[in-house]
Amino acid sequence: MENKKIIIAIDGYSACGKSTTAKAVAASIGYSYIDSGAMYRAVALYFLDNYIKITDPKAVSKSLEDIEISFRFNEKNGASETYLNGINVEDQIRTMRVTQKVSEVAALKAVRDKLGEQQQKMGKKKAIVMDGRDIGTHIFPYAELKVFMEADINIRAYRRQQELLNRDKVVDLDEILENLKKRDHIDTHRKDNPLTKAEDAIVLNTTDRTIEEQVSFVIDLWKQKST
Ligand code: DC
Repeated sequence: MENKKIIIAIDGYSACGKSTTAKAVAASIGYSYIDSGAMYRAVALYFLDNYIKITDPKAVSKSLEDIEISFRFNEKNGASETYLNGINVEDQIRTMRVTQKVSEVAALKAVRDKLGEQQQKMGKKKAIVMDGRDIGTHIFPYAELKVFMEADINIRAYRRQQELLNRDKVVDLDEILENLKKRDHIDTHRKDNPLTKAEDAIVLNTTDRTIEEQVSFVIDLWKQKST
């Protein structure tokens, strides 16, 4: 019997392994993967490059009209990459410059409304894994499977440092730790759709888990929910 197509919503703190897990799950079960954080990062990059002040609502809403975000599959590295107005910004959106700005940008209601609408459209046909902060609580409150990821903050900082090193970026561990704390605070305290565990989400703590274990944890849940 064919599995029923469902929506898998993965939320949680920064650097808990959400994207890595979500990407691998999607590839393994033949679902599309959407990194909603990449969309907020693309908006933050646009604001930085165009000197848009987040305190200027007119400039913010005008620039949102000019922003078009899409994902394209790169055959060479087998990854889905983020495009901002037709330009590949996958590397630029992962820099500390953008990382330091993104939570403030993601706290703006106008930004959340615009990206949220686009994310909901992407889920219309189901068979999707989306990761972020408000996917199970706000974007897809009826998602059949919701996972909430968490991990020890020191482990998260170390993993983020390794990830940056793989991109040839050397960043001090304390700087990463401070940034994670600041982002956790903004993400959990903002007025609109703050990061919180949906009541029906299943917690996945990744402190002592390998990536393979995280991925099979979610795939096992998918099997239960989709049959
Ligand atoms: O997952 P990430 O670190 O790439 O996300 C970047 C930022 O975007 C993060 O600080 C919070 C914000 N974000 C959000 O507010 N809502 C989402 N659904 C995804 C990300």
